[in-house]
Parts: sequence; C-alpha cells; structure tokens
Amino acid sequence: MILLVGATGFLGSAVVERFASRNPVALARPTSDTSVLPPEIEIRQGNLAQPLPLDSIDTLVYCASMGFGHVPALITQLEQSNVKRALFVSTTAIFTTLPSTSRQIRRAAEDAVTNSTLEWSILRPTMIYGTERDRNISRLLRFLKRWPVFPLCGNALWQPIHVDDLADAVVASLDSPHTTGRIYNVAGGEPLRFADLIRTAARALQRRVLLVPVPVSAAVLAAQLTRVVTTEQIRRLAEDKAFPYTDAARDFGFNPRAFAQGVRLEARRLGLVSER
Ligand SMILES: NC(=O)c1ccc[n+]([C@@H]2O[C@H](COP(=O)([O-])OP(=O)(O)OC[C@H]3O[C@@H](n4cnc5c(N)ncnc54)[C@H](OP(=O)(O)O)[C@@H]3O)[C@@H](O)[C@H]2O)c1
Repeated sequence: MILLVGATGFLGSAVVERFASRNPVALARPTSDTSVLPPEIEIRQGNLAQPLPLDSIDTLVYCASMGFGHVPALITQLEQSNVKRALFVSTTAIFTTLPSTSRQIRRAAEDAVTNSTLEWSILRPTMIYGTERDRNISRLLRFLKRWPVFPLCGNALWQPIHVDDLADAVVASLDSPHTTGRIYNVAGGEPLRFADLIRTAARALQRRVLLVPVPVSAAVLAAQLTRVVTTEQIRRLAEDKAFPYTDAARDFGFNPRAFAQGVRLEARRLGLVSER
C-alpha cells in the first residue's frame, strides 16, 4: 500500500488523483484541508515531526518539503519498517550558489535518502506552476492582468514545470524499473529568459507589457528597506535556473509541455481569459 506524504499540498493533491485507483493512504495533519483529497481516499493522521503511521505500507511517496529537517529520522523509521520503495520530491534550489538557510538541511535530507537501504528515487523539480495554488505564476498573471508595466530585475534563465507534468513524472518514475537509486532534475519544456517568461505570460492574457529594467542592487536595497520580499529571493531572480532533463526523458519518458502552453492553460483556469 502507498502512503502519500504531503497529499494535501499543491503538488500532492495532483499526485493523489493519479494514484486514486491504487487505494493509497494520504497522510494529513489535524489542521490539513482534506477537502482537496478525493472522497474515497483513506486518510491517516500524522505529522512528520513524529514517527509516521506505517501499518501495511510498503511504498512511500514524499511530496512535502525536505527542508524542515524531518527526513533523516523518517529514513531511520522507514528502514525499520516494511517500506521498501520510496520516492522523494526535492528541489533544484539545492543548486543555488547563494547563501541559503535551507540548503544544508535539504542536502542532509538527500544524503539520508541516498545512503539508505531503501529502493529510493529523488526528483528535483524547478519552480512549479499551473493552478491558483501556485505561489508564483498565478500572482504574475493577476499582476499582468491589472498593470501594463512590469519591473524586470535581472534577466536570468527560468524553466518552470507545470504541476500536471510533475505529478505525471512522480507516477512514471515510481513505476519505472530504471529509476531506483537515481536522482533526476525535472523542469519545464525549455529554458526562457525572465523577460520572455513575462512576455509569454502577458500573451496568454492577450495583453502587452512594458518591461522596465531595475538593477538587482536597487531591488536588493528596496527589499531590505520594505521587507516585502527577502534579499535572498531578489538575488535568486538573477540566478540562472535552467536544468536539462535528458535522464528523466530516457528513464521514464518525461516530456514536459512548453511554458507558453502551460501558462495559457493557467490563465484560462484562473478565469483571466475567456474560454475559446
Ligand atoms: N512549489 C514550488 O514552486 C516548488 C519548487 C521546487 C520544489 N518544490 C518541492 O515540491 C514539493 C511540494 O511542494 P508544494 O508547493 O506542493 O508544497 P505545499 O503546497 O506547501 O505542500 C506541502 C505539503 O506538506 C505537508 N506538510 C508540511 N509539513 C508537514 C508536517 N510537519 N507533517 C506532515 N505533513 C506536512 C502539508 O500539509 P498541510 O496541508 O497540513 O499544510 C502539505 O500537504 C516540496 O518538496 C517542495 O520543496 C516546490
């Protein structure tokens, strides 16, 4: 039986739908919004800060953050249980060269997985988008719907992944015989410069946008003064975030959609353009 950790999250709720026919168990906290889960799914209460309820579980799919420090203790528990197969969703943010508070914790979490006796696989996605639950492109689309001008801070490469492509990748990589003991970067169809990403999002809304370049140093100063965003977030804007996914394509047929297609779908889903 499969236990889905993070099933109520943005990615997890897309993943749980895809496993629905296999009678999975969803982990939920007392505070979790379980209305996002399919009604027929078995729910077990639990918290990553404590040992998980693993009765009859042989497979774990982990869609919660690996950056909170719970993974090493979880691996110890899994190794003493009947769980054999485990798939973890990490992040390409692990590659940042900037000072990051969570990077060490995420690295230690990946190390605990890769040094374990489990049949493990790790997926590292880029920024995930695709529904009103994302915390990035939905905000960008709503901004562009209201304003014809956008401050362009840096012009780095981006390669966001659509949540449905990532959820499909979770299932395909779990089922593939080639993925055990391997780590895969997974990203959107192609990298694009930040300016192109903004213009593509505006086109999805049938809008034009004027990009006004803002030096990264000025944006960092504004972040320090206003505290609306962190300086780490601003500096990350200027860092390239493009990742080839040839290993994932070879081993489990990963074939993500282009951003232009994904952002058009999201604009329609958010009701920002009429259905045609
Ligand atoms: N979102 C992105 O752009 C992005 C980019 C790259 C990588 N990732 C990675 O992708 C994965 C999924 O991201 P997401 O955006 O879907 O996350 P999310 O929406 O924040 O969902 C997190 C899930 O983890 C659960 N959770 C958190 N703390 C828990 C705890 N102590 N015990 C049990 N469950 C707990 C949450 O439960 P509740 O419902 O109770 O809160 C929720 O189901 C994460 O590993 C994240 O690091 C995300």
